[in-house]
Amino acid sequence: MTRKLRLGVNIDHVATIRNARGGDHPDPVRAAILAAEAGADGITAHLREDRRHITDRDIDRLMAEIDLPLNLEMAATEEMLAIALRHRPHAACIVPERREERTTEGGLDADGHRETLAPMVARLSDAGVRVSLFIEPSERQIDAAIHLNAPVVEFHTGRYAHRGGEARTEELKRIADCAALAVKNGIEPHAGHGLTFDNVIPVAAIPQIAELNIGHFLIGEAIFTGLDASVRRMRELMDQAR
Ligand code: PXP
Repeated sequence: MTRKLRLGVNIDHVATIRNARGGDHPDPVRAAILAAEAGADGITAHLREDRRHITDRDIDRLMAEIDLPLNLEMAATEEMLAIALRHRPHAACIVPERREERTTEGGLDADGHRETLAPMVARLSDAGVRVSLFIEPSERQIDAAIHLNAPVVEFHTGRYAHRGGEARTEELKRIADCAALAVKNGIEPHAGHGLTFDNVIPVAAIPQIAELNIGHFLIGEAIFTGLDASVRRMRELMDQAR
């Protein structure tokens, strides 16, 4: 059981706002530094194939300028693998990616892509990068993660976050059961997507979950209260859940 629950702050949408006008402001690296001061345990950034938010230069700067571990979210492509191997971030989270989607919709089908993923997980692991697979909470996907020797899985909490009533309760149970199954098999479970002040506590209370990665809500809330207050409040709620 993991007691300390880490918070990874995803800064992609600081870059989204910057890119809306070109130029340098607001700077995602400055956001990462502020998030660290407010209690983040790690920084997460998704270098998408279309570079719609985070850019290659952002990754260069994050690697050089922040003290916290960087979790690089990446699609399972040769281009992204080469970038990850060049930078060797603390962690790489392999996510599915479709150009037309607005955000990462649904988890990676690790089971259906075992052949493509196996050499990728092996090469990243050999380079000392901690590999995480962003999957739906399902036994089939955990089984694939076990066979791929992935040390970490991150459960997609989108279905939990966007459903209500009974469906939400069922999804939460699925996440909790899968977190227990992952730990039983030596895999560290993380979770993320769509988490907010209003829905984070039940997920944070799942004792096996070691890390939450949260972005869109924190950056949106920062418009009203500032990034420091937004990250601190999330940290408080997560601590309250444990
Ligand atoms: N974890 C992963 C793997 C993601 O792709 C995302 C979204 O980029 C998140 C966590 C964070 O989701 P949100 O921005 O909805 O908090």
